[in-house]
Amino acid sequence: MTQQHAEISAIQLYKRLLRYAKPYWRVFLAVILAMVVYSATEAGVAMIMKPLMDDGFVGRDTDVITMLPLAIIGLFLIRGLADFFTTYGLGWIARNVIKTLREQMFNKLLVLPSAFYDHSTSGQLMSKLLYDVEQVASAATDAALTMIRDSLTILGLLAWMLYLSGFLSLLILFTVPFIALLVYYISVRFRRISKNIQNSMGNVSHVSGEIIDGHREVKTFGGQAYETKRFDKVNQGNRQQQMKKIATDAVAQPLTALIAAVGMALVIYIATLPQMLDKITVGDFISFVTAMMMLLTPMKRLTKVNAKLQAGIAAAESIFNLLDEKPEVDEGKLTIERAKGHIEYRHLSFSYNADKAKVLDDISFIAAPGQTIAFVGHSGSGKTTLVSLLARFYNVDQGQIFIDGIDINQLQLSALRRQMSLVNQQVVLFNDTVANNIRYGLSDDVSEDAIIEAAKAAHAWDFIQRLPDGLHTQVGENGVLLSGGQRQRLAIARALLRDAPILILDEATSALDTEAERHIQAALETLMQQRTTLVIAHRLSTIENADRIVVMHNGEILESGTHAELLAKGSHYAELHRLQFQEA
Ligand SMILES: Nc1ncnc2c1ncn2[C@@H]1O[C@H](COP(=O)(O)OP(=O)(O)OP(=O)(O)O)[C@@H](O)[C@H]1O
Ligand SMILES: [Mg+2]
Repeated sequence: MTQQHAEISAIQLYKRLLRYAKPYWRVFLAVILAMVVYSATEAGVAMIMKPLMDDGFVGRDTDVITMLPLAIIGLFLIRGLADFFTTYGLGWIARNVIKTLREQMFNKLLVLPSAFYDHSTSGQLMSKLLYDVEQVASAATDAALTMIRDSLTILGLLAWMLYLSGFLSLLILFTVPFIALLVYYISVRFRRISKNIQNSMGNVSHVSGEIIDGHREVKTFGGQAYETKRFDKVNQGNRQQQMKKIATDAVAQPLTALIAAVGMALVIYIATLPQMLDKITVGDFISFVTAMMMLLTPMKRLTKVNAKLQAGIAAAESIFNLLDEKPEVDEGKLTIERAKGHIEYRHLSFSYNADKAKVLDDISFIAAPGQTIAFVGHSGSGKTTLVSLLARFYNVDQGQIFIDGIDINQLQLSALRRQMSLVNQQVVLFNDTVANNIRYGLSDDVSEDAIIEAAKAAHAWDFIQRLPDGLHTQVGENGVLLSGGQRQRLAIARALLRDAPILILDEATSALDTEAERHIQAALETLMQQRTTLVIAHRLSTIENADRIVVMHNGEILESGTHAELLAKGSHYAELHRLQFQEA
């Protein structure tokens, strides 16, 4: 039952893969032609045996004796050309298909929702993009090559054998069902193992990716022994799965050969019986046995290609699973050029998982255009979640968010996100120059003056000037060549240059010293005047001037008001403030 199901989906996978090859059908046709020619030359070798024996050795025909060596050279010349076209053409098609698949996977990764990334590891995804795709390529080429060319060769040889002696050929055909049965059972096993191998490759790349990214943590916390053990486990798992595949392969081949050999033994036994010897010539017999011997190689390859093919199917499944992931919901029709920046949260509740507790509970507030709303509260109280919902990184399940009076679900995602600049708690920089990081996402014709302007406002210009290549210095992967505070200032400059009506600052100045923070604060304040700002800060000194401060706890709003109002009230905010003041 389940096997039957697997077969059906395998056929669907083939069909889907074939669709990728469809644009190249002309080349494929030419390749098939080349394969037909190749197979014909194979049968030709067996055919030559008959005149060689009957006319050459037995008949002593001089014409045949001079012609045959030339015929052999000609035959192999044609065969060589056909071989070249087959290999080259198939490779060309496969590489094109791979390129398209990678392109589609990459484009998919660009539109997948945050929730998808929360539940996948980058190692696993990379492994799909690198390893699984290659598996499909080599499976598709090898499979097409072997299945079409070797099948044709087998057909050609069998046809020749039938022509020579129908009776003897039937004996060979007798072994076919046994081989087919064997191939079927092994296929199912191969596919299962291949899936495991792909997962284990994902694990290998996941674990090694983590220690590459976290090499400092591994060193300082002395995690080497732990990581070695962890890696050993996935590495060992990969070896075990690979060995299972090798073992299956190792059993399958000799077994197929044995079945074929039994058929051959039968043929030789019967052909040499006195009654048969009268019916066929020496040439017939030698030619028949040659053809029979020549059958073995393509048959062996046919059983061997199965392993590759099953790996390819499993890989294609893994790739299509990614391609079939649902992209971010983007059903909004409305678009706005530049919002005024009026924001309203209305009775908003949210949880990351339907079955988990609420992370936000009945949040309501309004920010008028140009206002600054600050969010404070304990770690984990839901501040980052609250602001990330404005950009629709997750879908809101209860309540609504409005920008300029429009429910954000009715806006196109691109139009919505164009309205906001974001400086995140975790700064992300790209492995590119300082200038390209600042103008990230904007068109190339942003002038260098504008970039410098933004860098100055973010108090980044001083240190940028001192970098070896100034604005054109490479920052390294995620900005490793910069300090934490420098990275943060680049992120701020990026947000400033974007000049969006809504600014979201999530701990945007947390990595700066008090001195730098005061400078940037001044710059940010001029900037905040013209736009609506949602700011999250742990250091309360940075948000005293906010139009409203919202105090959060466990996903709920405890109180809100201006700094002075909340202090006068003497409740939660006043308590937080007192604690920080004491520390200072
Ligand atoms: N991607 C996620 N998937 C599931 N749960 C999450 C996710 N991100 C955050 N959470 C949970 O949601 C809650 C609120 O997290 P959030 O990041 O909004 O807090 P925060 O107020 O920004 O904290 P901090 O001040 O430490 O930045 C936490 O309990 C956290 O465990
Ligand atoms: Mg946070």
